[in-house]
Amino acid sequence: MAEYTAGRKDAGADASTPAPLLESRRSFLGALVGLGAVFVGALLSVPLIRFALFPLLRRTTELKSSSVGELDEFSSLTDPVLKTIQIEQVDGWRKIISEKAVYVTKDSQGNLRVLTSVCPHLGCTVPWNKDRRQFTCPCHGAVFAADGARISGPSRRGMDTLETSVEDGQLNLRFQYFRQLVPDKEVIG
Ligand code: FES
Repeated sequence: MAEYTAGRKDAGADASTPAPLLESRRSFLGALVGLGAVFVGALLSVPLIRFALFPLLRRTTELKSSSVGELDEFSSLTDPVLKTIQIEQVDGWRKIISEKAVYVTKDSQGNLRVLTSVCPHLGCTVPWNKDRRQFTCPCHGAVFAADGARISGPSRRGMDTLETSVEDGQLNLRFQYFRQLVPDKEVIG
């Protein structure tokens, strides 16, 4: 019986090659093929892994530029104008569209300026008071001038200006969120 098994093992092999040497050669070739398969598999899976993880690795709060309106619309501005803009936010694979209220106004040199309506004190929406010609926050009474400068109240700074650009006669802005309760404007997202 032992002789029969040994005969089958060596079938097709060089009769002069000792059995242990043949076995180790087979295991070496098997390991080599296995390693090659693992290497090729890893190589092929890199693009797939990057594709799957891309939304997780990128910034999840990326905000795209939003249109405020035609530039001509604001040429004869005397009081701040309330505009509702649409914000497109990419969060992983999801695209979220939300609305924000901003004011288009002018600075002391007559240049257009866009203010967020979020109060820099504790985040209430600040309305424009046409009669008093100033912004008055309904929550704790912070008062701001038409250009957003702080006049009085608990807010430690004026209303926050947003980054704007003009393209093809269109006023665009990049909406951002700012830290509250601090004296200087600080972007948080
Ligand atoms: S939130 Fe505006 S004054 Fe407090």
